[in-house]
Amino acid sequence: MAQQWTIGRAVTELTAAFSAAGLDTPRLDARILVGHAVNLEPSLLFARADRILTDAESVLVRDFAARRQQHEPVSRITGHRGFWSLDFLLSPDTLDPRADTETLVAAVLERRAQYPSPRILDLGTGTGCILLAILKDWPEATGIGIDLNPGAVEMAARNAARLGLASRTDFRVGNWCDGVTEKLDIIVSNPPYITDSEMDALAPTVARFDPALALRGGADGLGAYRALIPAARAVLADGGRLFLEIGAAQTADVAALLQNNDFGPEVAHRDLAGFVRCLEAVTV
Ligand SMILES: C[S@@+](CC[C@H](N)C(=O)[O-])C[C@H]1O[C@@H](n2cnc3c(N)ncnc32)[C@H](O)[C@@H]1O
Repeated sequence: MAQQWTIGRAVTELTAAFSAAGLDTPRLDARILVGHAVNLEPSLLFARADRILTDAESVLVRDFAARRQQHEPVSRITGHRGFWSLDFLLSPDTLDPRADTETLVAAVLERRAQYPSPRILDLGTGTGCILLAILKDWPEATGIGIDLNPGAVEMAARNAARLGLASRTDFRVGNWCDGVTEKLDIIVSNPPYITDSEMDALAPTVARFDPALALRGGADGLGAYRALIPAARAVLADGGRLFLEIGAAQTADVAALLQNNDFGPEVAHRDLAGFVRCLEAVTV
């Protein structure tokens, strides 16, 4: 690549390099990464196409290009992911939030009329994306986010501060509901649910860049549900609700676990592709 780049030339060269690497959206990726290196929104790059990059910016662009050519996701390189129209910081300790998980946020917000000022618990909070998206659209709600990974808890707290939600949140390191003494109105969780055999077949972008603790659900993928469903039931108030993200083909197994732990019949919520992505159940 050229020694001294203009913004326009950097975008062109990265686009060509990403095409050659077989990436799906080479020009979009190039625009985001060059924009990130020069601290400009991608939409402003064209107007500044002739600006020459500083040496430090060129070093950054080369680093980003090399990482992307190795198929590192753009969000991992920039350290940002959009979720529910909000911007979240990521770290190697957090899952990169998936758009399908917005199904849980929408399902919880459908219950706004039933809980005037709910106390919400998010188990396995990661970046805090689920809890923080709910709180952003539900001003009367407050919430606790728990994760076993201290690095994730730190990132969730930073995201809460950036979004102006720190005063309504409490992020803690913990194993599911251990040590929770409060009674909750709503519990949400997107737990690790990938089976051991699915882990072996995962796309490299997932297996290499998302933390294993966020993915591994054990031999049948249900290990986390077996632990957290009874734990959640014990800290839910009467009339409280549990919302769980589930993987493909887990509906019947997770529904059985819910019914065996004093939850009523589940409500299924589908993602935009039409798959059941979330099960909701109320205490009985
Ligand atoms: C699939 S990720 C979900 C992260 C985030 N809620 C999201 O939807 O993007 C599962 C999360 O559960 C956490 N986790 C795994 N085992 C846990 C445990 N025993 N107790 C609490 N959190 C756990 C992981 O560290 C990870 O952050």
